[in-house]
Amino acid sequence: MGELADPFKIGLVPRKLTDEELARAVRMDVAAEIEAVNLYEAHIAATDNEMAKRVIGHILQEEREHLIEFLELAKQLDPRQVEAEIEAKAQFPLVAAGQSENPAAEARSEGTRGSGLTVGSLIGEDQAT
Ligand SMILES: [Fe+2]
Repeated sequence: MGELADPFKIGLVPRKLTDEELARAVRMDVAAEIEAVNLYEAHIAATDNEMAKRVIGHILQEEREHLIEFLELAKQLDPRQVEAEIEAKAQFPLVAAGQSENPAAEARSEGTRGSGLTVGSLIGEDQAT
């Protein structure tokens, strides 16, 4: 979970954000909403208190709406996000079915399988080379 914002620093930025900078901030807001959804789902799963489940469930639904609203805002601020969404929606059925519309991407994906590389495989590698 992220740190709480310092309320005395809010509004004290030296200039207004560009749309690109704001899009970056909004993507952080998307991440915060995802974190909230996961947290509230865990709270509901962890209790038998029906009143608490109803209240948290109500808040959870609002967080899901916030998540979508921030995603929509990110698309308004960053046209590349719209392009990515169009591409992803077109590719999703093929990827889900184990096919690919883009042979180059498929080849790259195949090329990384079995190479031994993982997300953390470069940790500890010598940086001087
Ligand atoms: Fe929220």
